[in-house]
Amino acid sequence: MSPTPPPVETTIAGLRARLDAERAAGRSIALVPTMGSLHEGHLALVGRAREIADVVVVSIFVNPLQFGPTEDFDRYPRDLDRDRAALADHAVAVVFAPTAAEMYPTGPVQTRVTAGQVGGTLDGRSRPGHFDGMLTVVAKLLLIAGPHVAVFGQKDAQQLFLVQRMVRDLDVPTRIEVVDTVRADDGLALSSRNAFLDERQRRAARTIPAALEAAQSAADRGLDAVVAAAQSVLSGEPEVELDYFAVVDPTTFLPVGDEYRGLARALVAARVGPTRLIDNELIALH
Ligand code: PAJ
Repeated sequence: MSPTPPPVETTIAGLRARLDAERAAGRSIALVPTMGSLHEGHLALVGRAREIADVVVVSIFVNPLQFGPTEDFDRYPRDLDRDRAALADHAVAVVFAPTAAEMYPTGPVQTRVTAGQVGGTLDGRSRPGHFDGMLTVVAKLLLIAGPHVAVFGQKDAQQLFLVQRMVRDLDVPTRIEVVDTVRADDGLALSSRNAFLDERQRRAARTIPAALEAAQSAADRGLDAVVAAAQSVLSGEPEVELDYFAVVDPTTFLPVGDEYRGLARALVAARVGPTRLIDNELIALH
């Protein structure tokens, strides 16, 4: 017998009613926010959610508020039936898949969560408004589902940092659980956007994790060596157009200086053809 895909709720009221009943029965709730086009990275988050809570909710919503006017909102892959099938074996209680009209019934929102200083750096510099839009929808999802825990991937390190900050700054009563980046055999971090890569671009994209490995290997020789090692790997691949390589203090997400010692996070953003990819790894600076 083929496994049954999880049921779908498309309305906020429907989801709230279902989850109110679960809470009343004393069950804990984990939310896994996604934009769909699910891959093994998302499924690792779902697996963790199942381990730490009784009821797993996966939200699937391609949030228009976090895409810029020239970004890939229109071509972002959407296939709810395929996503439900991918979740069929994963003990998911419900998929929350609202329309944009359900989430933003008045059209443009008046009230947003703003991401602050870190929201304007790195990905926020290349994608103005992205992190405000992301935090606003994550805040809405947390308020709609009221989960005990919400699960996020380390792959989107700046997003994760900002969500953790928001939860702290606004006293959101949800614990944020982190899952490590899931990679393909060739090292490339899984991403819904990898589907846009042709074979040649896909090969070229391997230089992104390779640059992070080079950064890790150079870390005992200091920050300059790290930057040089990563840049030399990335500049060897003409198909990869670097947006930034940066090394940040994990506690502030601000760039580290030469004097910094200890664990730091190395981050890459690059365009391969029209597709923008990001990745990151911890490095130990000596
Ligand atoms: P999306 O890109 O679909 O990612 C959903 C979650 O999956 C995020 O927490 C992301 O970090 C995690 N994820 C993606 N690829 C991963 C990988 N290879 N390994 C581990 N985790 C991975 O991120 C978003 O959606 C949106 O911004 C969202 C938070 C849903 C708000 O709209």
